[in-house]
Amino acid sequence: MTALAFRPNSPHARDVASMVHPQTNLRLHETTGPAIMSRGAGVHVVDDEGRRFFDSTAGLWCASLGFNVERLANAAYEQMRTLGYYHTYRHSSNSSSIDLAERLLAIAPVPMARVLFQCSGSEANDVAIKLAWYYQNAVGRPEKTKVIGRRMGYHGSTIAAVSASGKADMQADFNLPLPMFRHTDTPHYYRGHEDGESEEAYSERLAANLERLIEEEGPETVGAFIAEPAMGAAGAISPPRGYFERIQEVLDRHEVLFIADEVICGFGRTGNMWGSETYGARPDIVTCAKALSGAHLPISAVLVNAKVYEAMLDESDKQGAFAHGFTHSGHPVTTAVALETLKIYEEMDVVGRVRALAPVFQGRLRAFLDHPLVGDVRGDGLFAGIELVADKATRRPFDPALGVGARVGRHARANGLIQRVVGDRLAFAPPLVITEAHVEELGAKLGAALDATLDELSEQDLRAGQG
Ligand SMILES: Cc1ncc(COP(=O)(O)O)c(C=O)c1O
Repeated sequence: MTALAFRPNSPHARDVASMVHPQTNLRLHETTGPAIMSRGAGVHVVDDEGRRFFDSTAGLWCASLGFNVERLANAAYEQMRTLGYYHTYRHSSNSSSIDLAERLLAIAPVPMARVLFQCSGSEANDVAIKLAWYYQNAVGRPEKTKVIGRRMGYHGSTIAAVSASGKADMQADFNLPLPMFRHTDTPHYYRGHEDGESEEAYSERLAANLERLIEEEGPETVGAFIAEPAMGAAGAISPPRGYFERIQEVLDRHEVLFIADEVICGFGRTGNMWGSETYGARPDIVTCAKALSGAHLPISAVLVNAKVYEAMLDESDKQGAFAHGFTHSGHPVTTAVALETLKIYEEMDVVGRVRALAPVFQGRLRAFLDHPLVGDVRGDGLFAGIELVADKATRRPFDPALGVGARVGRHARANGLIQRVVGDRLAFAPPLVITEAHVEELGAKLGAALDATLDELSEQDLRAGQG
């Protein structure tokens, strides 16, 4: 079947005939066509046939205030009418970018010195990696070029960001990762701990593995470590207790810069303004995006500490300028919308709100621990992951060929719930403006999807998970 199988000139046919979709099986798309969303309705989205969906990961972990925020529309409109564009190259600036930079420095998880703006999380992480290299050159350690990410980590699709990511499918046949990238363990306690091993002991083991990797590579060659405080695209995985404290000791011993990718965790998600606060991370560089503008416009930021900024000053002296930038760095409309977003967070006390709702949300999900398909539920704030298993006692996973997670996703969608599925993990990061009633809606729809999946597996006699 090709695009011609759709009604001629329908949006579906035109989509299939014209667009390439990210993270989509392109061949399959030619037969299935797109799911076209027509409008946002608060924390729901409505498709072109009027079906309403609750998106339990706020789009791509980003629409923190819902899908149509009037105040953000007005902020963009007002800024466009005043100054629709100007760049920030060669000493130029604009007031909304200045205000936003100040605001980000004021709320940073650890003291930070300066802010650089760009348009996406991927760009922010690419910039952070460039700055780590720049820093190591400035301080006379040019061999420190290697960057360590984590298996299953996700930092974006641009060349350095995807090299730092631990996602083999996103690197294969793109000739990536770049040669200076290495990867260490995924801090996935439920899946990775040995019998009887505490979270703290597991964290110690992972820190020791990181140290071994650095020593094997040669500490004089390792310049930066990049990590999401809680991992999103790996399937919503919160770190085990003590993890970042132990990791930080290793990084300090070997003068390795720490880049915290706060693209998902930033702005309240885990019950603090930053994931670094929730999990005790002390980064040199912080990247953020997504909820920075409630996802209403593409903008990201990189925050650098004084040590990194001093090095940038030195390099600027040496090179004649900080020779880096984007046409849209500090685009006044994006910074005005981000500034308004931060104002809304302050007015609604986003952190207080997430903390108040977290016990309801986490409790509703934890209740699924009684479900025959569910092996683990854990998370912080309004962020959580559920792992589906064939055998709870032994943590034995399902045969991937059964696509159990995908089945849950299909049943959920049929029931008006958009569910992010990563293998047999279900990830949750709803808009931060959800209410208790929305949590109940999510719980009821998810419960129905899990039951329908269980019935389907039982009917097909696949429950044992052997395929
Ligand atoms: C932790 C993390 N970092 C970076 C990115 C990339 O951001 P973007 O898609 O805006 O480039 C993502 C996207 O999901 C992410 O989850």
